[in-house]
Amino acid sequence: MSKFKKALLGSIAPLLLGSMLGMATQAVASDERFYGRFTADNELYTPRDYRTWVFIGASVTPNDMNDGAAAFPEFHNVYLDPGSYAHWKKTGEFRSGSVIVKELVSVGTKEAPSGNGYFPGEYGGIAAMVKNDKRYPDRPGNWAYFGFDGESRHGAIQEDSACSACHQQNAADDQVFTQFYPVLRAAKP
Ligand code: HEC
Repeated sequence: MSKFKKALLGSIAPLLLGSMLGMATQAVASDERFYGRFTADNELYTPRDYRTWVFIGASVTPNDMNDGAAAFPEFHNVYLDPGSYAHWKKTGEFRSGSVIVKELVSVGTKEAPSGNGYFPGEYGGIAAMVKNDKRYPDRPGNWAYFGFDGESRHGAIQEDSACSACHQQNAADDQVFTQFYPVLRAAKP
């Protein structure tokens, strides 16, 4: 081996090992961690890191199929926090502490080189739901629903009748529409 290669290996190996160890500790930590930060009134600070969570599905309610104005326009990119995903994989249940973020993205175009369809345009905001038996003991299933207006640094808890009633009636698993999330169904024990 040339001197140069040896020197190169010598400097890269510790780096590689270090990053592998780093990844291992991170994986363990993220399994146990709880996500979401809350105000004193148990309102959810607008989550910033949800795009690194587990992506569980993407329903689309295009405006042009909903009289021009879908209730939640248009793509719904849905993320579950990693700690609660790990718990779901083990138990098939949403733990107290589960945070689910639904990110809305507009339809940008209906034609692409791949064909006709609905293709994502611009970010349009988020909605969220949080299950917590300590924070929301009186809410059905201990789930609180949040709307975000973009100005405020945290979400506002929505009336049960506005969100929870429909979820309770129609969602397959504990107010979550797992019937639309193959990622969760595949991971359910
Ligand atoms: C009329 C029924 C209905 C109402 C009212 C409703 N939702 Fe939903 N919600 C759905 C359906 C159906 C889905 C899954 C499919 C989709 O995204 O369109 C969903 C998905 C979600 C998700 C992703 C997790 C999941 O359960 O699938 C969140 C978060 C969410 N809604 C929040 C809210 C909030 C916050 C409100 C109130 C402001 C609300 N929803 C009101 C029907 C409803």
